[in-house]
Amino acid sequence: MYRIRMVDASDDEIADTLADLHRLTFCDAAAMPPFEKGTWWLAYRGDDAVAFAGVVPSTHSRNCGYFSRVGVLQRHWGHGLQLRLMRAAEAQGRRVGWTGIVSDTTDNLASANNFIKAGYQLFKPEVPWAWSHTLYWRRSLR
Ligand SMILES: CC(C)(COP(=O)(O)OP(=O)(O)OC[C@H]1O[C@@H](n2cnc3c(N)ncnc32)[C@H](O)[C@@H]1OP(=O)(O)O)[C@@H](O)C(=O)NCCC(=O)NCCS
Repeated sequence: MYRIRMVDASDDEIADTLADLHRLTFCDAAAMPPFEKGTWWLAYRGDDAVAFAGVVPSTHSRNCGYFSRVGVLQRHWGHGLQLRLMRAAEAQGRRVGWTGIVSDTTDNLASANNFIKAGYQLFKPEVPWAWSHTLYWRRSLR
């Protein structure tokens, strides 16, 4: 029913689709990421892109990826798309030889529950990069 595809964000049409989904899912809650950096996926229902996610090399955890964004259009919530996109990012992390993936959630139960489902654990970074109440997640890829 839903297909996940790694996409080439240097393609203008793909970059526009990612930006549209970012605007629709994050509104103004997070800055638009530079899509030319990292690896990005889109989830399609038929021809329609309904969700996206991206991973970049972590600047805080050595040889790890940082799951930087995930967004699912509201009418497609509840089909496990975040989890599937996280699995795609983990598979890519293994291909490039990362030892783990880190991420964070802030005031986001749905997303935090997906990190738990995917086997992530909470940790305390040496240098926390977000808010004082942000939760930090990591998962070994070994
Ligand atoms: C977080 C997010 C990606 C999860 O989407 P998803 O993969 O479709 O969620 P799930 O399939 O795990 O949904 C599980 C349940 O939680 C509900 N749910 C999902 N997102 C929800 C939200 N933001 N608020 C309340 N409930 C939510 C689903 O409807 C589903 O309910 P059900 O079990 O009664 O059917 C999505 O809410 C989203 O895009 N939010 C906006 C962007 C965002 O917050 N990104 C993450 C930043 S850390």
